[in-house]
Amino acid sequence: MVNSGEKVCIRGLRDVAAAETRISFVDPLGALYYAGYNIDDLIGKVCYEEIFHLLIHNKLPNKTELEALKTDLRSEMKLPDPILDSLRSTPKNCHPMEVLRTEVSRLGEYDENRDDNSEQANKKRATMLAAKVPAIVASFHRIRQNEKVLDPKEEYGLAENFLYLFRGKPLDAEEKDAMERYMILHADHGLNASTFAARVTASTFSDMYSAVTSAVGTLKGKLHGGASERVMHMLSEVPHLDDVEEYIQGMLFDRKRVMGFGHRIYLAEDPRSKHLKKISKALCQNEHRADLYAKCKKIQAVVHREKKIYPNVDFYAALVLNALDIHSEFFTPFFASSRISGWTAHILEQYADAVLIRPTSNYVGVYERNFVPIEER
Ligand code: COA
Repeated sequence: MVNSGEKVCIRGLRDVAAAETRISFVDPLGALYYAGYNIDDLIGKVCYEEIFHLLIHNKLPNKTELEALKTDLRSEMKLPDPILDSLRSTPKNCHPMEVLRTEVSRLGEYDENRDDNSEQANKKRATMLAAKVPAIVASFHRIRQNEKVLDPKEEYGLAENFLYLFRGKPLDAEEKDAMERYMILHADHGLNASTFAARVTASTFSDMYSAVTSAVGTLKGKLHGGASERVMHMLSEVPHLDDVEEYIQGMLFDRKRVMGFGHRIYLAEDPRSKHLKKISKALCQNEHRADLYAKCKKIQAVVHREKKIYPNVDFYAALVLNALDIHSEFFTPFFASSRISGWTAHILEQYADAVLIRPTSNYVGVYERNFVPIEER
């Protein structure tokens, strides 16, 4: 008899701590801290670049550091010609997350320093990726629309440049503020599935591009970052405010998941959702969007009444991005373009921790089967 060596198996690794981190803390009671700062104290007071610096270097930058970082990020937003050529030859019906997954991987092919896995080289790569991921997303959109790929503007920060490169028109003050807040709120979130995937890859000492590619592929799924795109789909399926109740009851009766609701960690309202709700309310002033906002509020009330669960980051984020004129297929790529800061910070932390992440599994198949040669099967 084989000794199965059965171990305690925790499905979905629920409540298992698989790493120690100084990057962010997700408080189940409904708070989020970036390197010790409550996001409620940061939002509206800092720019996205300051958060990137905080996550990567564990401290907020001073003015000189911030200016230098902004300059580096802006210059890194220009894509190498082979990446632009690759985007031009990509089938236009590809989902932008598929395109992003491929192009992040391709960036690694053009890294002339590929053999340098020092902390300094990886911090430079993190800055480069934080700039190039949004640039890839924006450029693919422009190319798909048969529009010119634009150059980032000197006077803009990363969030403003990202949306400018994507839409091709300047942002008004409210849009700029919304974009900054959106990116800050999506920058990091503990050991979520995509960050975990990135850390697993980094734990083998594979390169940063491979780790980020793992993360992009993981974020794409509908139980993770892919949920926001589906929130928009759900909103389009509910014709009027009065239909919300029946629609949601129908979904729950069919035991379907309402996209943008529920969370593995939070027992209370997701703190990011509170901010995104406020931002979307301010942006949704015109008649059509006011209607979308009202539908969202009603969905929130019905889902909470029936299931006692709250909206997560993806629910009101969908409304914010819709109000910024971004097509729903690009919602997850916008998420990735912000989370790249958290992913790279965690990859750096994992390299420093230098431990292989390799759990075990309990074998539940049969034992001692009699082998039958192929001629006799
Ligand atoms: N819609 C309806 N019911 C939901 C739900 C949702 N979005 N999320 C959780 N629930 C219910 C489950 O059916 C379950 O109820 P039950 O005990 O009566 O069966 C209970 O809440 C617990 O759910 P569980 O599957 O154990 O939670 P989880 O931690 O495994 O899953 C998510 C977390 C995020 C995957 C899950 O909430 C979900 O699928 N949400 C929708 C997708 C989404 O928005 N993803 C983005 C996450 S940021």
